[in-house]
Amino acid sequence: MKTRALIFLGAPGAGKGTQAREVAKEYHIPQISTGDILRDSVKKGTPLGLAAKVKMEAGQLVPDEVVCGIVEERISEPDCCQGFILDGFPRTLPQAEFVDRMLEAKGRGSPRVINIQVDQDVLMKRLTGRRTCAVCGEIYNVYFGPPKQEGVCDKDGGKLLQRADDNEDTIRQRLVAYENQTRPLIDYYRRKNLLHDVDGNRDPEPIAQELCQHLKAA
Ligand code: AP5
Ligand code: ZN
Repeated sequence: MKTRALIFLGAPGAGKGTQAREVAKEYHIPQISTGDILRDSVKKGTPLGLAAKVKMEAGQLVPDEVVCGIVEERISEPDCCQGFILDGFPRTLPQAEFVDRMLEAKGRGSPRVINIQVDQDVLMKRLTGRRTCAVCGEIYNVYFGPPKQEGVCDKDGGKLLQRADDNEDTIRQRLVAYENQTRPLIDYYRRKNLLHDVDGNRDPEPIAQELCQHLKAA
């Protein structure tokens, strides 16, 4: 794979984070999740975090200028020089246009966009069942990929936490935000011939294998 920007698109619960972790390990490039960065700011109680918390708990998107600022700063760090994965960004048309301008200004080529497609009816179960290790960030699912011991990370014994926005009401709002604001990006990137669709209705391992093969060939 040539060094470049990878974008992971997909509905909440499609498996963007799960797959981005694998690809980041394989290619030794950072995974930049705007959701993770925002949650970290919420935890630290920064002014940015306090403003974002209200939106995130309501299942709404954080304003474009906030997330664009976060991403611009993050990809200027030295570990991004060999390429990077944007996980959950862009999510609106203005964010996508911002990425185009930013990559052009930095002299990078067009992004490669992976669209993970998952049937609507499994998303709710994936999200209500998600648990994340507080120590290493490993993602589990009580229905589809449980840890050996309930509530405990297999890798480091860390405590598994449930995200504040993984409750049914907020998930419904997140799915609406996806349909209205993010789904149009599929067409945006398809028209530019940058989109690669992946069937996400399978176990994580074959999806990761297919993705890595696709990226190697690219
Ligand atoms: P964010 O953290 O990005 O959440 P999201 O888009 O809702 O996506 P998720 O993290 O919920 O899902 P995922 O696709 O990564 O799935 P995962 O791999 O974990 O954003 C949170 C909030 O922050 C937003 O609502 C918004 O407020 C704000 N925000 C973030 N970015 C923003 C932006 N750019 N602009 C504006 N606001 C922004 O998998 C889910 C579960 O399924 C896990 O339990 C996993 O183990 C399981 N699973 C994964 N793959 C499989 C599989 N193949 N088979 C079975 N189970 C699987
Ligand atoms: Zn862990």
